[in-house]
Amino acid sequence: MQAALKNYDDVDSWKTVMFLYNAALKEVGTKLEILNDEFQHVHSYNPIEHIKTRIKTPESIVKKLKRNGHETSIENMVRYVNDIAGVRLICSFTSDIYRLAEMIGKQSDLKVLSIKDYIKNPKESGYKSYHMLVSVPIFLSDSVVDTKVEIQIRTIAMDFWASLEHKIYYKFEGKAPDYISQELRECADMVSALDDKMLSLNEAITALAGERYTT
Ligand code: GTP
Ligand code: MG
Repeated sequence: MQAALKNYDDVDSWKTVMFLYNAALKEVGTKLEILNDEFQHVHSYNPIEHIKTRIKTPESIVKKLKRNGHETSIENMVRYVNDIAGVRLICSFTSDIYRLAEMIGKQSDLKVLSIKDYIKNPKESGYKSYHMLVSVPIFLSDSVVDTKVEIQIRTIAMDFWASLEHKIYYKFEGKAPDYISQELRECADMVSALDDKMLSLNEAITALAGERYTT
């Protein structure tokens, strides 16, 4: 993307960058909706409960650059801030997460740049989610620009936990009392137990429905 910007001054660069991230968000959002529709069509089941998309605010971009010790510049933001365009996929079961990740990985127009599996390796906070950093080519009238999008995939239960934890984190400006952090970690364990139980229940239901169908 850096190359696409070199002929502009800062204001125009900012507009161009934001235009590209918005376009990337639309591309990826639509792709995922189509995959979900196809899954519904073929398997009568949709792995995605809902899709949320967002563009990072300029304040958050600057804050993140500063936090990571980078000067505020458009070049640095394009290079170092990977979650300017973000898509969150919420699904019912942990198995859906890996199914979706595999489907995304197989899309020939998406390049998977990195994967962080915070389900197999939860964060210290208790946070669980599956993160994929991908790039999508944006076709302009005279060039093609690869643009980064962060995809977070999680279950409804993981999303419930993450939303609340995020609010608490902000309320205490990142310095929540120890017992609160501890209880949040306990809630994260409860969320995982709930996800495991719901998954095995779903498998049992599917097996029963299959038996009924064949007898
Ligand atoms: P950030 O600077 O937080 O973006 O982290 P990073 O660049 O190291 O990437 P990482 O994959 O760890 O996290 C990216 C995003 O995941 C964050 O912007 C949040 O949306 C989410 N996230 C990561 N850790 C936590 C957490 O402990 N709690 C919650 N609620 N969300 C988290
Ligand atoms: Mg982030």
